[in-house]
Amino acid sequence: MKLVIIGNGAIGLLYYAQLFDHCRVLIKDRTFDKKSGSLSVEDINGCTNEIQLNYASEDDIKDADCILMCVKSFDVSIAISNVIPLITSRCAIILSHNGMGVIEHLDSLKKSPNPIYNLLTTQGSQKCDSGYVKHTGIGDTVIGNVFNPNINFEAQLKLILNSALIKHSIVENIKEKQWHKLAINCVINPLTAINNIANGELIKSNYNCLIENILAEVVAVANAEGNVFKLNTLLSTVREVICNTARNSSSMRQDVLNNRTTEIEFINGYVIKKGLMYDIPTPENEKLYQQIKALGSATI
Ligand code: PAF
Repeated sequence: MKLVIIGNGAIGLLYYAQLFDHCRVLIKDRTFDKKSGSLSVEDINGCTNEIQLNYASEDDIKDADCILMCVKSFDVSIAISNVIPLITSRCAIILSHNGMGVIEHLDSLKKSPNPIYNLLTTQGSQKCDSGYVKHTGIGDTVIGNVFNPNINFEAQLKLILNSALIKHSIVENIKEKQWHKLAINCVINPLTAINNIANGELIKSNYNCLIENILAEVVAVANAEGNVFKLNTLLSTVREVICNTARNSSSMRQDVLNNRTTEIEFINGYVIKKGLMYDIPTPENEKLYQQIKALGSATI
């Protein structure tokens, strides 16, 4: 399988490294320059390995079997409009981003004949520079079809993920999993960014009450959308992710520290919007949203 990863951020580089020996993988940054470099990959135990970093040309996109899009939620639309005119109709597109509410506005994707998937991950990763990525947290990869399922593609993908030892599942109801992941991001991302702390700090008891209040709002909104989530189950999931990614600096904390746009609009912002729709108050999510916005003019 020829797989092109769009986006050379922390998650794009992590999947590149994990897939490197298991399929023909290429990466694309903002250019179409056919270049190559090297990537230092620090594994979860702190051991570093050097691999070749091969970039995709426009021709590579044209004959790709799969595009794995690892760009921020607010960049998906532009990235999709750049690749749709190039790819063949059999090329599967996998979207990997935090937050919800992205696909709803992508008419080009809804109309395309391509198999479209969502990928959710709780793996922790840190990009130290353009040629150095650290695997900072063991986590799951969950993939589910959104439009035009392709069973052969899924079987092939599964073989590759198995051989790369990437802990994963291909699920029927990706929407439910997205809400799960949203709940995790609603807690970890803003709290680590506001307090400028690593994920693991959130296990301290002074955060317990706040985490519970944030999650209670997410559960109420998620359940109004047809889920049947229980607060205690979500609390345990969030705690598990906090522990498994303890060393990680969340993507939102990294964005704030580097004065980049955050995904707050698609994370807590999405819960607030849905809350308004169902007349469910979301004051804790609203507070986090305002605090993140106040942290920098570049954040949305
Ligand atoms: O956005 C992130 O940083 C990640 O989704 C997660 C799982 C919270 C780990 O830091």
